Amino acid sequence: MNRLGMASGLGVVFAATLPFIGCSSDPATGGATGGSSATSTSTGGPTAQPTFHKDIEPILQRSCQSCHTAGKIAPFALSTYDDAKTVASLLVTRTQDRTMPPWGAFETDTCKPRHGWKDDKRLSDAEIKTIEAWNTAGAPEGDPKDAPEKPAPAVEGLPGVQLTVAPKTPFVASGEKDQFRCFVLDPKLDKKRYLNGTHFIAGNPKVVHHALMFLDQAGESVAKADADGGYDCFGGPEISKANLIAAWAPGGVPNEYPSNIGLPVEAGSKLVMQIHYHPAGATGAPDATQFQMRFTDADPDYEAAIALIGNFTKQDASGDGLLPGPDDMGGPQFLIPAGAKAHTETMRFTVPGGLPPLKVYGIATHMHYVGTDMSIQVARATPTATQPADECLVETPRWDFNWQRQYAYDAEIAALPTLVAGDQVTFKCTYDNSTENPFVKRALLEQNLSSPQDVSLGETTLDEMCLGAINVIYKVK
Ligand code: HEC
Repeated sequence: MNRLGMASGLGVVFAATLPFIGCSSDPATGGATGGSSATSTSTGGPTAQPTFHKDIEPILQRSCQSCHTAGKIAPFALSTYDDAKTVASLLVTRTQDRTMPPWGAFETDTCKPRHGWKDDKRLSDAEIKTIEAWNTAGAPEGDPKDAPEKPAPAVEGLPGVQLTVAPKTPFVASGEKDQFRCFVLDPKLDKKRYLNGTHFIAGNPKVVHHALMFLDQAGESVAKADADGGYDCFGGPEISKANLIAAWAPGGVPNEYPSNIGLPVEAGSKLVMQIHYHPAGATGAPDATQFQMRFTDADPDYEAAIALIGNFTKQDASGDGLLPGPDDMGGPQFLIPAGAKAHTETMRFTVPGGLPPLKVYGIATHMHYVGTDMSIQVARATPTATQPADECLVETPRWDFNWQRQYAYDAEIAALPTLVAGDQVTFKCTYDNSTENPFVKRALLEQNLSSPQDVSLGETTLDEMCLGAINVIYKVK
């Protein structure tokens, strides 16, 4: 069986409707929800006044400094006492409203995924309270002797990297507007290999907002590239067949599978790297982001694939596809009327027969700027003791296009949610197409429009999507 072909067997939406996801999962760190480092070193009990070195610095080290370090994507560093003291009250606001660190997958009343997530840097309630108490106390420095050990300088890179590709001509992103650029890369593989680890190294971390890598087996992208080997692209690489294979966002660690899992890459395939640049007024130094790869030594026990499912425009005879919803006129219709709030579009997909059981390794949601909330649920045809009849795989209830990523379950392979023939996967997307949605407001401004427009399915900034990226693994030996 052609394993990559499996993706098309899944009825996956490729090419024209490719998504944007950011990803940074690290099986090795496996952290569940926010740690408790903030208070664990305190010897003075809960009433003791928090200080920077004893209580705040460990939190910043674990959850903030991957971005808030000179030269990285965040607008200021949080490396020293002075750095933190200057913005102490902002630290309180942005941690209390949980916009920092950036994270999208939350438990809700209707979605309680059964596992935690890998590489979860969110703060615990106790840590958030500690930051508030510290600010209220006047942001005291405390004794530098209480400071946590300085972390070893981050070794950037994929352990055991075997192959690195990068654009031959660096790209300069400048101005205020975000830019989306695709680079055609050639890994020059002369035989089929199985990707076991990937990592992106931003050439200019001040401007690289996130990066996606697509496999282009037919080499179609070559004809789209200009003399510098790239082209502008927003929704995806804009070729008829492209498979998403990796994604990265700032702070992202290498994406590594255990040694018995690999994602097949056929000989001769080209790669298309799509980068979302966020120059934010900086006249950026040129960027040539590198993509690092490591392969399995032998044929793996499990193959991996990222299935992109959703963006259905109609309902099919079996009842799958776009389901009836609000504001439909004469049958299911993907239309978010101008001004509509809490508008939903729901899509259903039934896992076809003829596939091995698919284990969900990680998952991502994808919409554009009108979206506010998305969930992916499964209703199983044949529930078992370990695979419940109904399960929510993920919900991103405070959708932010700018902080997309894959969420990988912090679990052993055996304990991962499984999808088999007949299981129904439902994608529910919620939209706010009014100017109360700050992202809509900004997008309209950028397009010189004064009021919301009707939004339908499409590729551009003011179109929408409702798409899931399900990273599955399946046993092959
Ligand atoms: C994945 C990268 C990343 C991580 C991790 C991160 N930040 Fe940020 N942070 C950013 C970026 C980018 C911005 C600027 C854009 C924005 O405001 O969203 C920012 C902005 C901020 C701001 C400024 C907000 C304002 O209103 O001007 C604060 C405060 C902040 N972060 C605090 C934190 C704290 C505290 C942590 C850790 C608990 C943290 N950040 C972790 C990337 C990150």
